[in-house]
Amino acid sequence: MPIEKILIVDDEKLVRNFLAETLKRKNFDVTLAENGQKALLALKDQSFDLVITDMKMPDLTGIDILKKVKELSPGTIVVIITAYGSVENAVEAMRLGAFNYLIKPFSPDTIEAVIDKAKEHLALVEENSCLKQQLQDNSGTTHSGIIVASPIMKKILNDVSQIAKSNANVMITGESGTGKEVIAHAIHYQSARANRPFIKVNCAAIPDTLIESEFFGHEKGAFTGATSMHRGRFELANGGTLLLDEITEVPLGLQAKLLRAIQEQEFERVGGIKPIKVDVRIISTSNRNMHEAIAQKKIREDLFYRLNVMPIHLPPLRERKEDILPLSEFFIEKLCLENHKEKMTLSDEAKKKMLAYDWPGNVRELANILERAVVLNTSGMISPDDIYLNQLELPTTISALPIGITLQELEKRLIIETLQKMNNNKTKTAETLGISVRTLRNKLQEYNFNYTNENN
Ligand SMILES: Nc1ncnc2c1ncn2[C@@H]1O[C@H](COP(=O)(O)OP(=O)(O)OP(=O)(O)O)[C@@H](O)[C@H]1O
Ligand SMILES: [Mg+2]
Repeated sequence: MPIEKILIVDDEKLVRNFLAETLKRKNFDVTLAENGQKALLALKDQSFDLVITDMKMPDLTGIDILKKVKELSPGTIVVIITAYGSVENAVEAMRLGAFNYLIKPFSPDTIEAVIDKAKEHLALVEENSCLKQQLQDNSGTTHSGIIVASPIMKKILNDVSQIAKSNANVMITGESGTGKEVIAHAIHYQSARANRPFIKVNCAAIPDTLIESEFFGHEKGAFTGATSMHRGRFELANGGTLLLDEITEVPLGLQAKLLRAIQEQEFERVGGIKPIKVDVRIISTSNRNMHEAIAQKKIREDLFYRLNVMPIHLPPLRERKEDILPLSEFFIEKLCLENHKEKMTLSDEAKKKMLAYDWPGNVRELANILERAVVLNTSGMISPDDIYLNQLELPTTISALPIGITLQELEKRLIIETLQKMNNNKTKTAETLGISVRTLRNKLQEYNFNYTNENN
């Protein structure tokens, strides 16, 4: 959107004429208003790309004009003219959405410079909205913030819209970092329950002893330390959606109780006898193969069938390579904004590198790798060298063994390094180490180790 039509508002004839002459010479279509009221009439009548208005006029102030412009046509750029000595007012105007200000007296060069900046700004705004549109087109739907381009993910998003309309329980499976939580959110926020709570329980992160009270709450005095009544997540989620993250990590002993609560929509707080009725939709997630989990007695079969009414399986990123570049663009744009950096792009070689990699940590890994690239990059063009893909390479020799440390210290290092190499995925880490997720979690607690991704 170029700048063509400009409205000039000033009660001083000299300033009006000077501006008009300067701008007409540059072929702008200029309208003049000698006071605030005339300016308002012009604004109601026509649309302008740019309004240059004096701050102090007998009837209205520049701020009044600015507010009116923002109300009538928020995209129009407003520049304030102010006298030397009243710059605070101009600053206030900028806080309210003015683009810039000119201090009287000013030269034609200053006006041109301000207009050039305004043009650049408009070009950026336009590019941004194109990008947003593109992202939306790519996703094929209006799931904001979910980027998909592959046919399989587009199909899944369509299913999500349908599933959201129902009240059925949903089980989302897929490797770590594939977007299970993102999809769970989308289901809730597209459902009739959108205005009700969305409550998440990370089943792998809660110690066995606390999980029952976390689910169902407890009465005062139910156990040592229960100094007051506590509502559980089922109660908090009443009317809304309860996300049971990593469902296979719920201790088997508690699964029967969980099944009953889900089936009957009724439970008692720990230490309580009064049944509590709720209306909760359950979305559960797991990065395991559920049939294996049933065979290994990680989850009761009856509970699985109760939860798995609407199954959604998210394929790993390596099986939907069409998503890699749109996701990269999305994260780069977001990360540039967050890090106050100018827009960046991936070089063709960098794109090739991204496409050739198999992304064991899926979308989360992609976002992490791009974060590093964006933060370190200074050229505006991300090259293959900015993309460090070797985070998951495990050491292949034992020569790196640090002889001289205790067995206990070695265990700690092995556990923490494996966790980091596995992109903080606790399930994979535990599997690799041949221990249970719970043992792993207990060890990490013992080390006081804070892993960044509390999801896993
Ligand atoms: N299609 C997508 N569009 C945009 N961002 C995505 C998409 N898929 C995943 N992400 C982002 O990737 C990260 C990982 O997603 P999410 O937490 O939903 O994965 P997950 O499958 O729940 O992983 P885990 O099993 O480790 O809990 C998040 O930051 C999420 O916002
Ligand atoms: Mg998750």
